[in-house]
Amino acid sequence: MVLIAAAGENNALGKDNDLVWRLPDDFKRFKALTTGHKIIMGRKTLESFPKALPDRQHIAISRDKDYIPKFPCTLVHSLEDAIALVGEDETAYIIGGGEIYRQAMAFATDMELTRVHGTFQADTFFPEVDPDQWELIGERYHPKDERHPHAFTYLSYKRKKGGPKALCPSKVQLGHRHPRAIDQIFQDPGIPVDVKTVARLALGTQ
Ligand SMILES: NC(=O)c1ccc[n+]([C@@H]2O[C@H](COP(=O)([O-])OP(=O)(O)OC[C@H]3O[C@@H](n4cnc5c(N)ncnc54)[C@H](OP(=O)(O)O)[C@@H]3O)[C@@H](O)[C@H]2O)c1
Repeated sequence: MVLIAAAGENNALGKDNDLVWRLPDDFKRFKALTTGHKIIMGRKTLESFPKALPDRQHIAISRDKDYIPKFPCTLVHSLEDAIALVGEDETAYIIGGGEIYRQAMAFATDMELTRVHGTFQADTFFPEVDPDQWELIGERYHPKDERHPHAFTYLSYKRKKGGPKALCPSKVQLGHRHPRAIDQIFQDPGIPVDVKTVARLALGTQ
């Protein structure tokens, strides 16, 4: 499960349900990475697209059982149900927005973060990247040029080995259906308290 995002230095993600920059090479990379894969997004991010992105299965999340998406896609009503649609060995991308990133960070094994060099006015923000959980394994700088009003750096992170574990989807599915199994997840000392809190929220358990 790969979380993919572009965020300013102040973690800005977007404003008025749109992005606050146009960076064609970052779009190109997003397309190259996500094409052929499932992409998981919140209802507001889905609505920010004029039409479906080609060659990707869109999985949109809304709490509203009566919601009708603006174009055909797979609609689910919890993050857990979205994750349950992804096979164990399958690569899927969590593509935002802020509300979904905050909940999904606990489930991601990898993160592709484009850090846009600037401070932007925004109403949606990316969560802080916890250096205890995430190891930076690659970075590539892209300078500002005539097509790109801001410089940016592609940052690739992997969840740290031996550190806190990602909640694997099968465990979450199991936990959702079997409350005793979810107790085991919450008693696992390898999973930190903040991750357990996010998992509780995602699963709707107390
Ligand atoms: N820079 C980037 O990389 C990037 C990427 C994506 C998006 N964005 C920007 O981010 C902004 C949108 O982000 P956002 O945080 O406002 O919204 P969002 O995360 O895209 O969607 C939020 C919606 O998702 C649904 N939802 C969230 N958690 C849920 C859960 N656990 N169970 C069921 N449904 C759930 C709810 O839909 P209902 O209200 O229908 O229940 C909620 O209102 C836009 O400005 C967009 O342009 C930026």
